[in-house]
Amino acid sequence: MFRKTYADIQIDNLEYNITQIRNHLSPGTFFCPMVKANAYGHGDVAVAKALEIMGVQSMGVCLIEEGLLLRQFGVNAEILVFRGFDLNGARRILEQKLTPVVSDWSHFEALDQIVGRGSSLPEFCQIHIKFNTGMNRLGFGLEEAQEVLEYVKERKKFQVRGILTHLYKGEDGIHSEGRTAEQLRRFSELRAVFGSLNPIFHALNSGGVISQIQLKKYGHVNAPLTTFPWGVRPGLMIYGYNPLDNTGNELF
Ligand SMILES: Cc1ncc(COP(=O)(O)O)c(C=O)c1O
Repeated sequence: MFRKTYADIQIDNLEYNITQIRNHLSPGTFFCPMVKANAYGHGDVAVAKALEIMGVQSMGVCLIEEGLLLRQFGVNAEILVFRGFDLNGARRILEQKLTPVVSDWSHFEALDQIVGRGSSLPEFCQIHIKFNTGMNRLGFGLEEAQEVLEYVKERKKFQVRGILTHLYKGEDGIHSEGRTAEQLRRFSELRAVFGSLNPIFHALNSGGVISQIQLKKYGHVNAPLTTFPWGVRPGLMIYGYNPLDNTGNELF
């Protein structure tokens, strides 16, 4: 480049957005801001540290490397790693106390080879399990839910902290016949399957959170988005982008 280029990141604005989202959530709702992809280009270490100072207990990355970098810079929060991993990756995840999101059988197999298999290896591992309800990118099929349940029940070393899915069009969440409503109806079936393990059920990205805010505002409390306190994983919106509105209008 032949010119100076810089981005001026206002951590105050991030804090404002986080506070507004939290104000909207029922107390105790699982809250996992996404800091993947270098915090969407905003500087993941600085963002993660600011989130920690605000008391955020969980955050999400895509790659193991992203989680390792945050640990290297002293971030202690729970860091969910959403992308897959092999045996080597599983080892790094556990060594650095990252939290694996398991989305296919090979992830279970990799973890199974390490967890509880030696004095220097952890005896237990907290996991989140991802199901595909329509995004068709990652995750177990709903028809595998019973098999997954039996698998984890047979292996007490896996502590199921969360069951999750990812919305592919959270922006349409206000429509009762939209894709989000359909995905959440499917996802709800897992509450009956995994209820005995008492996991967190998390699903909402920014589009989902904003749709939920709108539904509540207009008193629609019977929609799939509002009938259960789904855990939230906002990305875009914490950085100031409203995927439902590109007019620059303020959401809060
Ligand atoms: C699993 C998962 N959850 C949440 C998000 C956040 O989505 P958004 O940036 O639309 O809020 C992403 C981003 O792609 C994701 O992959």
